[in-house]
Amino acid sequence: MESKKRIFSGIQPSGDITIGNYIGALRNWIELQDGYDCIYCVVDMHAITVKQDASVLRKRSLDTLALLLACGVDPDRSILYIQSHVPEHAMLNWVLCCKTYIGELQRMTQFKDKSARHEDNINAGLLTYPVLMAADILLYRADLVPVGIDQKQHLELARDLCVRFNNAYGDTFVLPEPYIPKTGARIRSLQEPEKKMSKSDSNPNAYINILDEPDAIMRKIKRAVTDCESVIAYEPETRAGVANLLEIYSVMKNLPMEACVKRFENLGYGELKQAVAEAVIEVLSPIRQRYNELVADRKALLRIAEDGAEKARAIARKTMGKVYHKVGFDSK
Ligand code: TYM
Repeated sequence: MESKKRIFSGIQPSGDITIGNYIGALRNWIELQDGYDCIYCVVDMHAITVKQDASVLRKRSLDTLALLLACGVDPDRSILYIQSHVPEHAMLNWVLCCKTYIGELQRMTQFKDKSARHEDNINAGLLTYPVLMAADILLYRADLVPVGIDQKQHLELARDLCVRFNNAYGDTFVLPEPYIPKTGARIRSLQEPEKKMSKSDSNPNAYINILDEPDAIMRKIKRAVTDCESVIAYEPETRAGVANLLEIYSVMKNLPMEACVKRFENLGYGELKQAVAEAVIEVLSPIRQRYNELVADRKALLRIAEDGAEKARAIARKTMGKVYHKVGFDSK
């Protein structure tokens, strides 16, 4: 029997999880469970590249796990765990750091952005972050990695490191492919549509938290920045605000873009915003309800996390055994 292809992806437990995360990545995580062998990770080790309060981070990691379950990650079919519970991530990170050139890391857009935003804390982890991400993916020999477009550059580094290591030591890792949605790969800020929607935005009106109540969703979308044109059209280059609302609608309603544009022909921005908000509320309400049930039972969440870490570790340990041998760390 042909074995299924493997998926790996991760999400940081820092700040509110937004509809950007949902549309760009999480909804694909759920869908891909049908045909693939999936491994999903709450990447708490990545989160400490910016300052974190320990007890808040610990709580958020488990809350994020609950949110992934509420969105539809099924721990009976997929492996779901917290990164720091599997020490092999840190082990492979070090080996790969020694195969990465500083120049490759200094060019990363996210490093440049984050160092500008956290000028008082430009730590080495912020620079080497994409190496840890490559380690996450290569450790599980993942074929496909569902992410939003902002992670594409990091994925390219993972691919380069894969090829570089395999060339030096023989076939060890699998070359991962990005899986980026056609619509919704970069959901934009509702307040500054030239920027991406981000969970670390200081203005909560700029993003919709997956757990926002219906009235907050309605209010934020009604305030979304658009433009002064009068016709609704999908022109992402020149009319980013309206295009963003149309993309959100298209994904939430599972309708092709052409059908969405047609649906709003001859209507105004007020009607567009009302319909987008209703579509978002319809998808998020059941997720919020499930989350509220799941998050209350910390013991059950810990059990799921432990079980997931054990399964992940069984795979990670095998890869690490090979890597350590290849680089000369064991005496066999
Ligand atoms: P993170 O936690 O910032 O985001 C999680 C996922 O959400 C996607 N995303 C978006 N998609 C569309 N529009 C947006 N506005 C938007 N904002 C975020 C991200 O592309 C991502 O897929 N480095 C990663 C986490 C990570 C990872 C990995 C991912 C660590 N190791 C290995 C894949 C494989 C990150 O910070 O994602």
